[in-house]
Amino acid sequence: MANNVFGIDIGTSNIRIYNQQDNNIFMEKNMIAIENGNILLAYGDSAFDMYEKAPSNIVASFPVVNGVIADISNMETLIKLFVTDLSKGSLKPADYVIAVPTDVTDVEKRAFYDLIEDAGIKAHKIHVVEKAVADGLGLDIDVKNSQGVLIVNVGYSTTEISILSLGGIVLSRILKVGGAQFDEDIRNAIRYEHSLLIGQKTAEKIKMSIKSVMKDRGSIVCYGRDIISGLPKEKEIPPEILNSNLTASYMQIIDNVKMVLERTPPELSADIYRHGIYMTGGASQIYNLAELLSESTGLKVNTCDDPIDSVIMGIAKVINEEKYRSLAFTIEGMSGK
Ligand SMILES: Nc1ncnc2c1ncn2[C@@H]1O[C@H](COP(=O)(O)OP(=O)(O)OP(=O)(O)O)[C@@H](O)[C@H]1O
Ligand SMILES: [Mg+2]
Repeated sequence: MANNVFGIDIGTSNIRIYNQQDNNIFMEKNMIAIENGNILLAYGDSAFDMYEKAPSNIVASFPVVNGVIADISNMETLIKLFVTDLSKGSLKPADYVIAVPTDVTDVEKRAFYDLIEDAGIKAHKIHVVEKAVADGLGLDIDVKNSQGVLIVNVGYSTTEISILSLGGIVLSRILKVGGAQFDEDIRNAIRYEHSLLIGQKTAEKIKMSIKSVMKDRGSIVCYGRDIISGLPKEKEIPPEILNSNLTASYMQIIDNVKMVLERTPPELSADIYRHGIYMTGGASQIYNLAELLSESTGLKVNTCDDPIDSVIMGIAKVINEEKYRSLAFTIEGMSGK
């Protein structure tokens, strides 16, 4: 029996690791920077600092794309680096609980398990928990005894819409819309309306500021390259110009939520009506998405205080609370799913 347990939520933009030994959650960007094709230059937040700013011989990349592992070798390297750091340089055998998306192929699910097994981190027992189940626990829902819980996790490049009942997943749908798409919508709106080219990081900052700018009736100051003159420029942008582009992406999420609701067995629909929709994931905090989802479905939308951490907080509960341990399964259980 290993004497420590790590929980891991491998997101497309953020990786979160729960360390049972000190009861802490660690989070960094899930990014690696490689120089000249094979030299590890930076990882995590410091690799992200180089993103979009590095010369062409440095490639900063996310090994997870659309919620699934696209670059196994770099992801293994990252896991090993992060876990070694958390183990203060000396890796000891540990158990692992990892979250996996539901609406992906068995091969893609299995890749998460294999990753931990092959990363050279002395993994003892490896258990897997469905992301939406962990989300529910992280949101303080007693998922084992609740019926008809609708969770919408809006992450970086995906939105996962799931219906839970009695600890299992009744329906789940993953779509390729999330914070990255919102950033792109913002870049397009600013390019089109103000002839200004802005980077992804600037777009992300703008996205996070829309709520407060709208509240104060202010405008957004942004820096980029003027398309016409080619010169660096500062422009003040009224946040309203972003609305129509963002709303188109919001509607993709909303239409998919409606589609899942249409397929939900009626008895569960009644429970969902009573509880409302639970919304989480970092990008769920964007201006007006929760309001529009509520308006369009006629359902209450529950938001939470730590949407970035709900999956990992749920994994921590699976690790620490005996009554939730059965929600995690081994690879044998996974192939039967
Ligand atoms: N306050 C905020 N307002 C709007 N968006 C935000 C805010 N804070 C974080 N985000 C966005 O949340 C996204 C990251 O969310 P999260 O960490 O849940 O994704 P992930 O788990 O890495 O990705 P995925 O679940 O798609 O694999 C980013 O696009 C980020 O810009
Ligand atoms: Mg996520």
